[in-house]
Amino acid sequence: MKIGILTGGGDAPGTNAVIRAIVRKAIQNYGYETLGIKDGWLGLIQGEFTSLDIKTLPGLLSKGGTILGTSRTNPFKSADGPNRILKNVSEHGIEAVIAIGGDDTLGVAYKLYEMGLPVVGVPKTIDNDLFGTDYTFGFQTAVSIACEALDRLRTTAESHHRVLILEVMGRNAGWIALEAGIAGGANAILIPEKPFDIEEVCEFIRKRHKRGRNFSLIVAAEGAKPRGSGDIVYTSGIDEFGHARLGGIGEYIGKEIEKRFENIDTRTVVLGHLQRGGPPIAFDRVLATRFGIAAIDLVHEGRFGVMVGLQGNAMVPVPLKDIIGKVKIVDLKLYDIAATFFG
Ligand code: F6P
Repeated sequence: MKIGILTGGGDAPGTNAVIRAIVRKAIQNYGYETLGIKDGWLGLIQGEFTSLDIKTLPGLLSKGGTILGTSRTNPFKSADGPNRILKNVSEHGIEAVIAIGGDDTLGVAYKLYEMGLPVVGVPKTIDNDLFGTDYTFGFQTAVSIACEALDRLRTTAESHHRVLILEVMGRNAGWIALEAGIAGGANAILIPEKPFDIEEVCEFIRKRHKRGRNFSLIVAAEGAKPRGSGDIVYTSGIDEFGHARLGGIGEYIGKEIEKRFENIDTRTVVLGHLQRGGPPIAFDRVLATRFGIAAIDLVHEGRFGVMVGLQGNAMVPVPLKDIIGKVKIVDLKLYDIAATFFG
């Protein structure tokens, strides 16, 4: 059997570790052939492939990014996109596709599955907002990087008596902000799930001043918004899946705080792609390896139209139809724990 592997959407640390696990087990245990599809769904539309075998694997476990390349191409945006994919699949003798991606990539996988493509999904996004899995790989690496950033910003905030704001990724769900904020001791955490009141944020700062703590650390997810307002976007325009490019909430918060205090200086750091690139931490290497092995096992069992999910400590096949278009928002009990330390 020949298996095509593709990676779509934003890169996430651990993607190459998933590829390594799939290829190793596919060839070594099942005697299959594996083929790399370049740049996500775009490669299947255009028929762009790259060889993927045991010789490709050295160094992949810890390598960031994706050796296959990625894109945010939506084949359903063009009239002939899906049919070109099905034609390329059959012409290249591909009998199964493993799609590694987030909600957009897996949404396409589901539609193509309905059209007859045998596909298994692997959940990839640093945002950790995919339904059907407790964790996506890459998320804990992003949290560690954001936590380290907070540790570093704390010493500057303290030395200069400033309010430091760290803007992290998380467009629909504030998982990175929440977990990094707890781990890094943030004095306020702003997430998309809980639209904020800037007056309340200022109250946290005042409370700290009264205790003689004349500096503060705030973490904001890029998708956080003031109550009653829409998303803060970096530029107008949307991608092929209809998403705006977010960014700017950190600056907004800093300016609003400065308007309300005479002697408070704020600085904003946008962590950006630093939290998405580079090597995965050990947790994500293990999780990515488990996902890859579970995905190739499902292909071997002939179970398609599913995504591998981590539920508890078990790898579970989850029907794509049950997870697409849903957002796994943060655990609000965890948010309450975080809120104990606000101010
Ligand atoms: O992969 C999801 C994500 O990390 C979002 O949190 C963020 O809005 C987006 O990627 C940014 O992607 P790009 O690399 O296209 O700027």
